[in-house]
Amino acid sequence: MASSYHEIYQSWQNDPEAFWAEAARDIDWIKPPQTILDSNAGVYGRWFPDATCNTCYNALDRHADGGRGAQTALIYDSPITGAKATWTFSELRDEVSTLAAVLRDLGVEKGDRVIVYMPMIAEAVMAMLACARIGAIHSVVFGGFAAKELATRIDDAKPKVIMAASCGIEPGRIVAYKPLLDAAIGLSASKPQSVLMLQREQAHADMHAPRDHDWAQAVAAAKAAGKSAECVELAATDPLYILYTSGTTGIPKGVVRDNGGHMVALKWTMKNLYGIDPGETFWAASDVGWVVGHSYIVYAPLLHGSATICFEGKPIGTPDAGVFWRIIEEHKVAALFTAPTAFRAIRKEDPEAALLQKYDLSHFRTLFLAGERADPDTIKWAEEKLGVPVIDHWWQTETGWCIVGNPVGLGMLPVKHGSPTVPMPGYDVQIVDEACQPVANGQMGSIVVKLPLPPSCLPTLWQNDARMRESYLDEFPGYYKTADAGYKDNDGYLYIMGRTDDIINVAGHRLSTGGMEEVLASHPDVAECAVIGAADNLKGEVPLGFLVLKSGVTRDTADIEKEVVGLVREKIGPVASFRKAVTINRLPKTRSGKILRGTIKKIADREDWAMPATIDDPVILDEITAALKQHGLL
Ligand code: COA
Ligand code: AMP
Repeated sequence: MASSYHEIYQSWQNDPEAFWAEAARDIDWIKPPQTILDSNAGVYGRWFPDATCNTCYNALDRHADGGRGAQTALIYDSPITGAKATWTFSELRDEVSTLAAVLRDLGVEKGDRVIVYMPMIAEAVMAMLACARIGAIHSVVFGGFAAKELATRIDDAKPKVIMAASCGIEPGRIVAYKPLLDAAIGLSASKPQSVLMLQREQAHADMHAPRDHDWAQAVAAAKAAGKSAECVELAATDPLYILYTSGTTGIPKGVVRDNGGHMVALKWTMKNLYGIDPGETFWAASDVGWVVGHSYIVYAPLLHGSATICFEGKPIGTPDAGVFWRIIEEHKVAALFTAPTAFRAIRKEDPEAALLQKYDLSHFRTLFLAGERADPDTIKWAEEKLGVPVIDHWWQTETGWCIVGNPVGLGMLPVKHGSPTVPMPGYDVQIVDEACQPVANGQMGSIVVKLPLPPSCLPTLWQNDARMRESYLDEFPGYYKTADAGYKDNDGYLYIMGRTDDIINVAGHRLSTGGMEEVLASHPDVAECAVIGAADNLKGEVPLGFLVLKSGVTRDTADIEKEVVGLVREKIGPVASFRKAVTINRLPKTRSGKILRGTIKKIADREDWAMPATIDDPVILDEITAALKQHGLL
């Protein structure tokens, strides 16, 4: 089919408000929007400022009452525990409205924050939807983060209630969440009134009365009493959730998502970008702790009337590298969305994809990849083995949906390996130099998006308009700074080459090297440090730390290196994958004192590097090479 992409993109460019007004017709509003964009509201404008709606209503009730009540909405498949379950739209609505009633009985009201600290189980999805139903603002914290990271989020969001499960299950170990949660609450200045704790059979959580409440008992009591909570009328601009993401300091940024714009954009993507029809199964193999999980495990498929999968497992080892194919066959998955790292892991384990032969993938149409740069090798392997289009697309926590992609539903454009293809309607993407002047095609620059950002993108950071402006809007006036660098080719295809800040991407997880440096610097023997993202065949990048010890420290450097590895695990969490630190005598710096992290990275990645003209002492780079060799890293 010929692609209508260019025509649709042009129609958006000609009249952006008419484009989004049309897309908004696919949402069931309580009060439909009269005004599409108020350019003067908020930090850079607000979408649908006079409309009212409820996201949970559009995700569940609309389908439950509109002829899809008996259709599957949520599939829980947990190869790590062997458990499986499904809920229809009606069943899921009943569960969510009961859980919402429990929250209300705990005193949660519209605008209150609720932190969700849970593994990939169906109740995590229900928790988010229950909050949305009563207008509480959820903030999901990924289970791989340590107590201190959770505490930072508690202090920023100030939740009235925390919803949690007793444990997560990682291959070979059970991660008890309750001790982490208790430690985090202990560390934080803002204490939640209540904890609603789901006891899993793999680990029992100790409960502290009167703060802690048993989830199952509370839900059973609410059901017995016939309690349920109806959808609350919310302004389209009211926050649906806060999702914390790494910033350039140890303090994460609270990305705010609104209700109305988020629904409009996400609903639009299901058909036009992903080519999915209501009633089909869409699977995002991610985690509800990340933006991909928010948008494409929970909200978008349900808003569209599609079935979604909550997968508690890994691409390999649960039990093998064929588990993705098993899920695709068993649940008739039409499209899978995951991070390239998952496919690198499968390929490493089963290079010939021999396990594929066991499964029938005839329903499977498209593989979508995002979260990190999709290396052409992995894409080619997946294309060849699966025999379906493999679509790379680029987006960020801040946007909540794809900035640059290949709109399968509008008719696929030719794939160019290494490029996520073209901007979606809503995004005027430009490549600029430091003076915010457009650069020529083929030339690298900063990737910026002309304001206003489209619906679903962050209107601001949680209670911090100043940080929003400073982080994203001040550097390139009139534009949103993506903090990614790249270039455009003569066909308008974008190439995303890397971050312009200190963020690294480890197995599709976004982490701040600045945050890790803060942890290393807190070690009593460390005088100075630097963390870089070193290239890794499986995870894309892994952090690598360099330590300069305080003068007079005579301890064995190997012990100190081990201790800082432990510190990062304790303070940030296992998800950081921080496993290596190297002690050196001095850090290479420019004459003005800036650490030359880029050059260190090139050395660690065995790339060609040129001696920086401004370096203060070139010999230091030889010292780094020697230290890396000594640690077996070169
Ligand atoms: N709770 C607690 N710990 C967690 C966790 C969670 N939810 N998720 C990961 N961890 C831990 C892991 O157990 C591991 O701990 P370890 O140091 O004791 O081994 C550590 O964090 C690093 O995890 P991860 O980066 O996931 O590496 P891995 O070696 O366990 O697995 C892959 C490698 C490629 C299989 C895995 O990263 C993967 O499935 N990636 C998919 C990427 C993805 O879903 N990205 C989301 C964005 S789309
Ligand atoms: P996150 O906010 O966790 O989704 O991470 C967003 C960052 O991941 C982006 O700013 C990019 O640096 C990177 N990223 C996401 N998707 C892609 C992609 N398809 N290609 C290259 N980089 C990507």
